[in-house]
Amino acid sequence: MLLAMPGLGHPLFSVSAERADTAGGFHHVPVLFEETLHYLAPAPGKTILDATLGGAGHAEAVLGRGARVIGIDRDPAALANAVVRLRSHGEAFVSRRANFAELAKVTEELAPNGVDGVLMDLGVSSHQLDSAERGFSLRSDGPLDMRMDPSEELTAGEIVNTWEVEDLANLIFELGEERRSRAVARAIVQRREEKAFERTLDLADCVASVVKQVGRTHPATRTFQALRMRVNRELESIEEALESVAAILKPGGRLVVISFHSLEDRLVKRFMQRRSKKEIDRPEWPEARPNPELAFNILTKRPVVAAKGELDENPRSRSAKLRAAERI
Ligand SMILES: C[S@@+](CC[C@H](N)C(=O)[O-])C[C@H]1O[C@@H](n2cnc3c(N)ncnc32)[C@H](O)[C@@H]1O
Repeated sequence: MLLAMPGLGHPLFSVSAERADTAGGFHHVPVLFEETLHYLAPAPGKTILDATLGGAGHAEAVLGRGARVIGIDRDPAALANAVVRLRSHGEAFVSRRANFAELAKVTEELAPNGVDGVLMDLGVSSHQLDSAERGFSLRSDGPLDMRMDPSEELTAGEIVNTWEVEDLANLIFELGEERRSRAVARAIVQRREEKAFERTLDLADCVASVVKQVGRTHPATRTFQALRMRVNRELESIEEALESVAAILKPGGRLVVISFHSLEDRLVKRFMQRRSKKEIDRPEWPEARPNPELAFNILTKRPVVAAKGELDENPRSRSAKLRAAERI
């Protein structure tokens, strides 16, 4: 069943900076705010699992509509902020620091009968990007860290200072989709022979020496993306989380995923297609057979993107794509 969505430019979809939490220096404007609520459909009596609490803007709105929220984030700073921001909601909000790859474990503990909605708003928060000391930004100087969960061992510094040139090139090509990946890897290895990389701007300058700037995008953006995705094993976590969602959603429960680049979106799109096909057909079979993995109805034929008002106000929304599905 496709839900009726108000059209682009509808006042319902204008975004307000007030939704950002700026308390305690934590700043993040949730993207596709109304669209997310539309598809998650929070209401009294429902339990929604927010797998990416971040600045807790989406979670606060879900609580505001009377649902209970189980919140997860792997970043202790995000979790601590969310706990303060949402404390007035009392027992309606519970949280755990966890990787969403462990979605099933957290749900088993906190909502053994399952949940009515799962939200995954992927990637990093503005707060993480703006905190130079976390090492995510290529515009402000910081250590080459990039860990969302600081208790993990692998950092971006370790990758650029120790990986073989071939492995670096493959990583930057596969997760950064950087066409100049080999030149970037060679430049990194050559430079580190003189002096190991320690700071983000140092690395950004090295990459910029071999990649031309196109438009306003910094030439090191794709390399930084690849490093961040590898440090946090982002695609693997998304895959694991998606595979466990069907088991924790009650019938009629909704899965809403917001992604920010093509590799993430492709994973989500393929997952939803595979789990919503009624039948599978193979040339060697005399006829199509029922799909044993059938679990969802897709609610968004095409990904939902930000309307003009939001695009003007929040540059992060430019690459956001929302896909939603309903548990059968
Ligand atoms: C884009 S922000 C979410 C923003 C949030 N929806 C809001 O309204 O403020 C993404 C958050 O997800 C967290 N995150 C990313 N990958 C994660 C994972 N595998 N497990 C748990 N949290 C994750 C990040 O630490 C970050 O805080």
